[in-house]
Amino acid sequence: MYNRRTFMLGATATAAALGLAACGGEGAGSGGPDTDAAPSEQTVGVAMPTQTYERWVADGDNIKKGLEEKGFTVDMQYAGDDIPTQQQQIDQMINSGVSALLIASIDGASLSSQLDAAAAVGIPVIAYDRLLTDSENVDFYVTFDNYTVGVNQANALLFGLGLLDESFEPSPDAPEGPLNVELFAGSLDDNNAHLFWQGAIDTLQPFFDDGTLEVPSGQMDIDQAATQRWEQETAQKRMETLLTTHYAGGKEIDGVLAPADPLSRGILNALQNAGRGDTIEDGLPIVTGQDAEIASIKLIADGVQHSTIFKDTRNLAEQAIISTESILTGEEPEANDTETYDNGVKVVPSYLLEVQMVLQSNYEEILVETGYYTEEQVEAGQL
Ligand code: GAL
Repeated sequence: MYNRRTFMLGATATAAALGLAACGGEGAGSGGPDTDAAPSEQTVGVAMPTQTYERWVADGDNIKKGLEEKGFTVDMQYAGDDIPTQQQQIDQMINSGVSALLIASIDGASLSSQLDAAAAVGIPVIAYDRLLTDSENVDFYVTFDNYTVGVNQANALLFGLGLLDESFEPSPDAPEGPLNVELFAGSLDDNNAHLFWQGAIDTLQPFFDDGTLEVPSGQMDIDQAATQRWEQETAQKRMETLLTTHYAGGKEIDGVLAPADPLSRGILNALQNAGRGDTIEDGLPIVTGQDAEIASIKLIADGVQHSTIFKDTRNLAEQAIISTESILTGEEPEANDTETYDNGVKVVPSYLLEVQMVLQSNYEEILVETGYYTEEQVEAGQL
């Protein structure tokens, strides 16, 4: 259930601050969304983190198009992965009187004063893909099933290593091991990174426990595996260092858990440059991914990257728009998870979308036949 109390608290606090009577549907003014206002009279502020990851560009395009089709004006800003820039952009959206805010944060905990300011003037806030933490003033959250992303990444790794069969059951022909793997995580200030990691580690743990898998670097804490700001170059450098420090003399490395496609490509560059094979067939380790970026789909088709996780951002944008419309018309947005996303102050009611594992054997069915990419785009490795 949508936490109506929170939403009303925001509106009531504002009404009190402005000396207004709290009002419902009848032109709430600055005391809350004007639930009678037509979309054509309303602007939605959309704060996006960066354009360096393909997905955020697609998310932004889809949100803008969808909201405009409904008649809303859209104020969309990308922050170049710079926290002060994102804070300023949101401050400005609030000052210009947007009706609602959709926020994909860079650092989920860094926007508390913006969220307070939005609540003080009754602007509802929806966290987009990444949870906004440490604040009471988050009304709703739309995202994917982030824990399952991590489970799928680990299952893909185990499948690629031959430890699970194609039904993801223990394989009768599994190698005895120990097999050597290294683990990468995302940016620690992104709540998603923790869920991806948790899902993956929970799935891999039995294989560590029985000695089938080993991590020769010993770097098994998320703090050691993290990749600040999800930067490709950082992951590439860490992989290079791991190889020179822990895999000298041609010691075998069998797989790498990588949480996002640009990081996967950095890791693959490091492995290829170190002479660890050009394709999986000729010995390149199994490397996972996330986001189904076009460059990685080409690598999967070519047998270089093993797998990725597809999150259909068209559906996430659509769900975000449905939730925004609900809030702006005074309704409770539909939630399908009211337990998982505790942001440190409250459990934020959420709508989670499903994810799909993509392998060489199914990328055509999942991505080409559904029209997400054309075969030509896959062949070129670019949009
Ligand atoms: C996460 C997001 C992933 C990936 C990553 C890096 O928060 O859920 O899809 O894009 O950030 O941008």
